[in-house]
Amino acid sequence: MPFIRPLHFYRCLPVSLGIYLLALFPLHGIASTETHQASQPYSGRPVTEIYNTYCIACHMSGVAGAPRFGQYEDWQPRIDKGMDTLLEHVIKGFNAMPPKGLCFDCNESEIAETIHYMIDNSSNH
Ligand code: HEC
Repeated sequence: MPFIRPLHFYRCLPVSLGIYLLALFPLHGIASTETHQASQPYSGRPVTEIYNTYCIACHMSGVAGAPRFGQYEDWQPRIDKGMDTLLEHVIKGFNAMPPKGLCFDCNESEIAETIHYMIDNSSNH
């Protein structure tokens, strides 16, 4: 009787279907995708690349009074102004600080991340 399959084949079918679906749509994978989107990760260039290409020219040694990278006392009065002011000053320019720090193709979030990078590496901790 070649066309009649043994009974246990049909009993196993729902179980294997369930395993198959779980493999296709792992619950963990769905959950972590949602958290990922909610936090909106930074999607620009590496900030070290931006800093090392543009900002370092003045902010390493303090050209024209630029707050020096890694120098807490240079940065403390700047940090006190608040991030919004700093971001505006960098984008529009501020005294000898040129607009966008000469990184003209930098977008706002790249500038903001680079400022954070400089501040984080110059804080007193
Ligand atoms: C041509 C030199 C030069 C370059 C390039 C430059 N800066 Fe500056 N920056 C300055 C100077 C000078 C000041 C100080 C201005 C002042 O306080 O009068 C300054 C100040 C700042 C401040 C503090 C602003 C404030 O309100 O106190 C931030 C933040 C900053 N720069 C970020 C950057 C970033 C980010 C880059 C690179 C994308 C960059 N700078 C590139 C010269 C430069």
